[in-house]
Amino acid sequence: MTPSTSPLDALLINDTVPVNNCFLNNGKISPISFRRSTDTLPIEPETKSQLPHISNAQSGFLLEAEPSYISPQNKRIAVLFSGGPASGGHNVVLGIHQILGPKNTLLGVTNGPKGLLEGRLSPLTTQIVSNVKNRGGFDLLGTDRTKIKTEEQFKCVRAIVKKEKIDAIIIIGGDDSNTNAALLAEYLYSDNCAVIGVPKTIDGDLQIGSFLPISFGFDTATRIYAEMVGNICQDTKSSLKYWHFIKLMGRSASQVTLEVALRTQPAITLISEEIAKKKWSLETIIEKIANRIAHRASQNIFHGVVLLPEGLIEFVPHFKDLISESSKDQDSHGNLKVSQIETEQLLVELVTKKLSEILPKSTPFNAQTHFFGYEGRCGAPTRFDQAFTLNLGLTAGSLALGGHTGYMASIGRLDSGGQVLAIPLSSLIHTEKRHGKETLVIEKALVELDSPAFKYFDAKRDKWAETDCFLSPGPRQMWGPLSNNLPKTVCLNQGYSKDKFDLG
Ligand code: FBP
Repeated sequence: MTPSTSPLDALLINDTVPVNNCFLNNGKISPISFRRSTDTLPIEPETKSQLPHISNAQSGFLLEAEPSYISPQNKRIAVLFSGGPASGGHNVVLGIHQILGPKNTLLGVTNGPKGLLEGRLSPLTTQIVSNVKNRGGFDLLGTDRTKIKTEEQFKCVRAIVKKEKIDAIIIIGGDDSNTNAALLAEYLYSDNCAVIGVPKTIDGDLQIGSFLPISFGFDTATRIYAEMVGNICQDTKSSLKYWHFIKLMGRSASQVTLEVALRTQPAITLISEEIAKKKWSLETIIEKIANRIAHRASQNIFHGVVLLPEGLIEFVPHFKDLISESSKDQDSHGNLKVSQIETEQLLVELVTKKLSEILPKSTPFNAQTHFFGYEGRCGAPTRFDQAFTLNLGLTAGSLALGGHTGYMASIGRLDSGGQVLAIPLSSLIHTEKRHGKETLVIEKALVELDSPAFKYFDAKRDKWAETDCFLSPGPRQMWGPLSNNLPKTVCLNQGYSKDKFDLG
């Protein structure tokens, strides 16, 4: 089906996306080979015992691009989206298709892991994938959150692999979906079917130091939220009468909230990881917010913006008690459905009560609540997400063609030419309690209080609370001097000397 095309889509589809030099063989995009890098990541003993094949084969070594090319033919590679959408997914598929070339076949799996179990695969032609270049969303294939966990499900995938003669499966997903990829890689090891993961999620909670500075989709989502928050900042500093409580998507981690705070400089920002570390009770949080609001009121400022992460509820003991352990509050991977909990409304009610105790009755306090979440997941990808994803697709496709299994495609050194990498999934898997029982998962990358990005925020926030320092960054730019920027938190945490991406 040809997607409907907006004027912006029509321009973006014709734009050139930078390709890393390592994929250019006399100017032509070609699959590369990989060799062991000198970098390793440890593997936990429990993972070694549960995923023995991939753990032994990988021994914790990362793979890096070798300056040589491969030319496999007649390979059949399947690709699927898994979990929530994130901008740039279509370019991953395009990148895989380009690297496979005409002599191999790319099969698209409809509706994520569920579609894989149902055997819903069909060939993706050049025409189909070219039509979605630089387009937001996952609508080319659709997605879902099915966790492949039972023996019956694993057997079902094996049967599909055999029936469709699949040489490799590429799973484009977040931490839970890459856990699926690791388990499948282990299960299909003896079937000679490789499984490769691609790091996707707007949450920014899939990061592995300099080896994976960020997942795709984070940049686009945070720029969309920053535009919306910036517009509200501008409105409230004009109308002078509202406190806006804005909850931002991002699941457990506050990475999204921190990035948006750095871009918009709101009066108050809550970071869940700080609240947990400092063991702030709900009362303490309310008191802190109310005191800030009261202080501004004493300066005759009766407006402001409060940012809060959607995962806040998981980090405050009192909040946690309010929600049940029942599975209706959790997805199939055991994650709380935090997007459906109205934390922002609860905070407004409690802050209003507190202010009535500490402020004279005549002091104005009018609050509005917002939740920005789904708005940020499917917008047209930023220049960074366009380039990052196309190159992740070229990397994943090369790994799949080369028969490497149980790796996550990655690109490091985002500011200086890009470093094409494969990270062993066996090193990322650890044991965590989910649904009340020990489960193999990939640990979520939360905001570290000693990270440069948090420290930068910490050094500025008192000033932002005191008077209006709001910034309104405006819409993300596709062309011009602001279009090549990297996320601020990534630049700070990686110690990049410039804020422009360069993927070579
Ligand atoms: P992924 O981790 O799968 O990328 O999804 C991220 C996310 O957008 C979270 O930020 C949010 O809490 C959740 O998905 C919402 O899930 P759903 O789409 O099922 O409502």
